[in-house]
Amino acid sequence: MKVLVAGGAGYIGSHCVRQLVAAGHEPVVLDNLVFGHRAAVAPEIEFHAIDLGDAPALEPLFAAHRFDLVMHFAAFAYVGESVTDPIKYYRNNVAAPLTLLETMLKHGVRKFVFSSTCATFGVPTRLPLVEDLPQAPINPYGQTKLDVENLLKALARSHGLSFAAFRYFNAAGAAEDGAIGEDHDPETHLIPLAMGAAQGHRPALQIFGTDYPTPDGTCLRDYVHVDDLSRAHIAVFERLATPGAQLFYNLGTGTPTSVREVIQAVEQVSGLKVPVVVGQRREGDPPALYADAAKARTELNWVPKFGSIGPIVETAWRWHQAHPHGYGDRPSS
Ligand code: UFG
Repeated sequence: MKVLVAGGAGYIGSHCVRQLVAAGHEPVVLDNLVFGHRAAVAPEIEFHAIDLGDAPALEPLFAAHRFDLVMHFAAFAYVGESVTDPIKYYRNNVAAPLTLLETMLKHGVRKFVFSSTCATFGVPTRLPLVEDLPQAPINPYGQTKLDVENLLKALARSHGLSFAAFRYFNAAGAAEDGAIGEDHDPETHLIPLAMGAAQGHRPALQIFGTDYPTPDGTCLRDYVHVDDLSRAHIAVFERLATPGAQLFYNLGTGTPTSVREVIQAVEQVSGLKVPVVVGQRREGDPPALYADAAKARTELNWVPKFGSIGPIVETAWRWHQAHPHGYGDRPSS
C-alpha cells in the first residue's frame, strides 16, 4: 500500500512509518515539523514539510501520488493547553484534518486511519473501557478527537469513506533497536520525566495526587508500547477494503499501572533513584483509565508484544540513555 502519513515525524507516527516499511508498504511522510523531528524519519523516505491544513500544498502531493490510504497522527495533544487555547486545538485538530479529508476524497482516496484517544471517553462510567461506552470528553483536546470521529462517520455515509479510529491509551516506549523514541517539547509525560529526573537532567518528579481511590492512591493508566500501537494500524488494512467501513478500537494492554509502579519500573530498569515530590492532583486527570482491547484482539488479531510496564520502560530507557536530549533539534534540547 502507498500510504500518506500525516504527522509521520511525530512520536507515534514515526514508529508507524518504520513498521510500514518493515511490512513492505510505501509510506510518504507529511509533517509541518512544529512538534515532529526530521531525524525521526529515515532519509530515504519521501518527506514533505507541509501542514495538513494547507490545501494548495496538498493538491500537488495528491496529484503526484496514487495513495491507497491516509494515516493521520498530526494532532496537538496537550490537554492543559487545549483548555487555555481551544481555538488552536479546534484549528489544528478539527479544521486541518477537514482540509486533508476534503482533498483526499477529491482525489479518490477513501481509506483513512485516525489517531483517536481514550480522552474521548472523559471519566469512564465503567472499567475496563470497551468501545461502545458513552463518550463525554472533559477537555477540548478529547472533544476535538471526538469531533473528528463524528466527521468520519458522516463521511462514511456520504462518500463511502472506510476508516479506523484507534483510541490510544498511554503510548510509551521506543523502537527496540533504539533508533527512534519519544521527544516532546515541552515534555509532560510521566515516563520521560521520571527518567530525566533519575538522571538529574530534570527536577524531581512531581506526583500529581496520592489521594485517588486506587490501591496506592496514585492514578492508574494503561501504558501501551508505541510499536504495538503501530502494528494495529497495519493489521486493520484488510478490513478497510470494505467501502464505508466504520471501525473503532481501544488500544491498550488492559493492565492498569499506577504512577508509583511506573516510578518503580524506571528505578529498576535504570538502577537509579527517581527523586519525587508529592503534589496536588492535575486538573482533568481521571483516577483510572484502562482498556478492554478484546475487539482489537478478535478482529485484528492484535496482541500487544509488550504486556507490562517493565519491558516498555526498558525500551524507553535505552533510547533515553543514548539520546538524553532527544533528537537535539530544539532550542531547549
Ligand atoms: N503524572 C505525574 N507527574 C507528572 C506527569 C504525569 O504524576 O509529572 C501522572 C499523571 O497525573 C497521570 C500519569 O502520570 O496520572 C500519566 O500522565 P501522562 O501525562 O504521562 O499521560 P496522560 O495519562 O495524562 O495522557 C495520555 C496522553 C494524552 C491523552 C491522555 C488521555 O499522553 O495525549 O492520556 O487521558 F490525552
